Amino acid sequence: MNIHIISVVPELLESPFSHSIMKRAAEKGLLQVTAHHLRKWAVNEYGMVDDYQFGGGAGMVMMCEPLVRAIEELNAEHGFDEVIYLTPDGEKFHQGLANTLSMKQSLLFICGHYKGIDQRVRDHFITREISIGDYVLSGGELAAAVVVDAVGRLIPGVLNDETSALFDSFQDNLLAPPVYTRPDEFRGWKVPPVLLSGDHKKIEEWRNEQALIRTQDKRPDLLKED
Ligand code: ADE
Repeated sequence: MNIHIISVVPELLESPFSHSIMKRAAEKGLLQVTAHHLRKWAVNEYGMVDDYQFGGGAGMVMMCEPLVRAIEELNAEHGFDEVIYLTPDGEKFHQGLANTLSMKQSLLFICGHYKGIDQRVRDHFITREISIGDYVLSGGELAAAVVVDAVGRLIPGVLNDETSALFDSFQDNLLAPPVYTRPDEFRGWKVPPVLLSGDHKKIEEWRNEQALIRTQDKRPDLLKED
């Protein structure tokens, strides 16, 4: 999968994809993430990409021209399946959407700053708007990093058996069950005996039961979704 990200602070996007699973995905040639500085498409030699909002009010708005030129140039080169704008008023991100996006070949993410981007870009170029939660970040970069990480790890071949996404929380609308490692007793606190029994059927039953209990306890809303 090819992912391109347009940002006014592309430095923020360097570290998230340079370590651990995302790094291995890149090394295996399964995920390529490229961040582009919007100033490359600025309207003047001073790097102007934003301007005051019509109607007055505090805060700058990211202008149409740099964004549209960037989107059109990159799209002509890469042919994006989706052009996604990260914004607090977008669709709330969830595992189902991560699954959907992981099946695409080529995605472009636009990171907003200041008061956001000119509405005309949203109306004519954006195919999907995503929020990572009901709070406001300083810009879309950290949100883009969250979405790309959640999507990238689902690309076939990125995870191995040990890190498999099959048993992740949310994959079947259930939270993941508790996990334990050695020692089997620490300060008198014991690991549930079933996990030491070697009986795989019983262990699976226990995990399913615990996943359900945990979901009922912490996120009953997930059990009501279809
Ligand atoms: N940009 C600023 N806040 C955001 C959020 N919560 N989700 C996505 N993009 C954002």
